[in-house]
Amino acid sequence: MPSYVVTGATRGLGLAFVKQLSADSQNTVFAIVRNKSTATHLTALSRNNIVVLEADVTDAKALNLAAAEVSESTGGTLDYLINNAGGSTMLGLTATDPTPEAIEEDLLQNFKWNTISAVHSTNAFLPLLKEGTTKKVACITSGFGGLDVTLQTGSAAQFSYSVAKAALNMVVAKYAVELKPEGFVFLALSPGMADTSSTAVSPMSDKMMAQVHEIMSMALKHFPDFKGPITPEESARMQLEVIHQWKVEDSGAFVSHFGNNKRWL
Ligand SMILES: NC(=O)c1ccc[n+]([C@@H]2O[C@H](COP(=O)([O-])OP(=O)(O)OC[C@H]3O[C@@H](n4cnc5c(N)ncnc54)[C@H](OP(=O)(O)O)[C@@H]3O)[C@@H](O)[C@H]2O)c1
Repeated sequence: MPSYVVTGATRGLGLAFVKQLSADSQNTVFAIVRNKSTATHLTALSRNNIVVLEADVTDAKALNLAAAEVSESTGGTLDYLINNAGGSTMLGLTATDPTPEAIEEDLLQNFKWNTISAVHSTNAFLPLLKEGTTKKVACITSGFGGLDVTLQTGSAAQFSYSVAKAALNMVVAKYAVELKPEGFVFLALSPGMADTSSTAVSPMSDKMMAQVHEIMSMALKHFPDFKGPITPEESARMQLEVIHQWKVEDSGAFVSHFGNNKRWL
């Protein structure tokens, strides 16, 4: 009975992970959400192998409480942790923004949201993972967190988010090195570009839409194989394949949903 924890499970990729994993009745899926009352898509699935637990991923105490609930249910073990919750403030701010306060606030917010959250979550579930059979932790990052993609596309956009995801990639490498002797497999996994609008809480503002269009044109220009965003289901399916195939000797890598560091979209 493999057990999975997925953070950020109310919508988007997190929801798609939970849907696919819970389709196999052998799996137990712990879906971590910020607020159970907004987890309507999860509730609608109505599967008895999904356990919905509340925790804000920027809150270490809340994650420890969620881990205690998982532990009670599994007898102290966990096989897979998918640190998916995160996101971008999409402010359109670049490194040369003239307001130091704006840069600092945006960097700190993105760090808490995309980097420190994964550390809190990993540490909360680590004692359970140590008792698990697979010891696999996937942190959902972004191609924007890679030097190659940034330099190849010449994109200065998504400044704080990119810096925070780059830091997340290093977090993964550090855990991989420290826990390799115990058989852990860590992975920084980019999901490609997935259109999550069908489960979004509100329609995008014009400013956000303009940024999405800018990113899309950049992607179409620089990635010849890119034909447009994929569905969250397709991205989750491809990412799960990578997670399941990943081996301890490859631990710490930063790869895309294609399972390599050559093709990002
Ligand atoms: N979609 C893409 O194309 C894409 C591309 C590159 C990387 N990513 C990464 O993939 C991950 C998922 O993205 P997505 O597109 O699926 O995003 P999304 O549709 O905006 O969903 C984000 C999920 O994370 C949850 N969440 C956000 N902050 C949280 C917090 N502090 N505590 C607990 N849960 C929190 C949200 O819960 P609420 O409902 O409570 O807000 C929601 O369930 C993110 O790490 C993102 O950076 C996505």
